Amino acid sequence: MAVNMNAAGTIVPEVSEAFKTLRTNIRFSSVDKEIRTLAITSAMPEEGKTTVAISLAAAMAEEGKKTLLVEADCRRPMVANRRSLRPATNWLELLYDDSIPVMNAVEPTRQKNFYFLDSGRDMKRPVEILSSKKFRMLVEKLKQEFDIVIFDTPPVGVFIDAAILSEMMDGTLLVIRAGMVDAKKEQEVVAQLKKAKANILGVALNGVRSYSDEYGYYYRDGKKRKKIAKKRAFSRRS
Ligand SMILES: Nc1ncnc2c1ncn2[C@@H]1O[C@H](COP(=O)(O)OP(=O)(O)OP(=O)(O)O)[C@@H](O)[C@H]1O
Ligand SMILES: [Mg+2]
Repeated sequence: MAVNMNAAGTIVPEVSEAFKTLRTNIRFSSVDKEIRTLAITSAMPEEGKTTVAISLAAAMAEEGKKTLLVEADCRRPMVANRRSLRPATNWLELLYDDSIPVMNAVEPTRQKNFYFLDSGRDMKRPVEILSSKKFRMLVEKLKQEFDIVIFDTPPVGVFIDAAILSEMMDGTLLVIRAGMVDAKKEQEVVAQLKKAKANILGVALNGVRSYSDEYGYYYRDGKKRKKIAKKRAFSRRS
């Protein structure tokens, strides 16, 4: 499954369409298992993971799903800044203090159904922490409170964090920035994620500017290629 996106962080109508498609594709990507936890990662830095994580969470929340976006990029946490959030606490505190109810630690955002949980700052041993039993238990707790929990992660080609997380997620989405594709690196990263037993749902191709800008977008599902929104694009032009 792949979705082309020309997103840049804000939800403009056509971007929103792309994220609605992505939302739908995720829902249908796993026949037997409902996707309740999802890691967003990429091979390299700056491919658009955070942008995709925020926009996808917004699209899920818009649909009425109680959605939590978790900052799991402990190396370069960016979500709070990007959404102008100042959370009082974070998931690291939850790991240290079991008595804090999850809902006291999450931060509501301006959008209905869209909540945020920050990571601790200057974390010393993120790999050890993410691999801990306590973190796994926290993921289960979050699942009890939310319909979908989305984790923004660091690039898997640089840090092992996303591979560790992916193993405990229902699904993993790989973001690839158009024009930055290094096929060998992507293959290595897919192999690494598979070795970690990640359920790779597909690829979100970010930053596509081409035919798709005029005619809506394409989405690729296996070998099928469907043209979407072409009719609407034509009627807009006439
Ligand atoms: N499709 C796009 N078009 C234009 N700019 C984009 C697009 N996607 C992302 N960007 C911009 O590129 C930069 C990197 O995006 P983002 O932070 O989402 O990537 P990332 O993969 O999370 O990076 P990192 O590896 O540092 O966490 C940001 O400034 C973002 O606004
Ligand atoms: Mg990021």
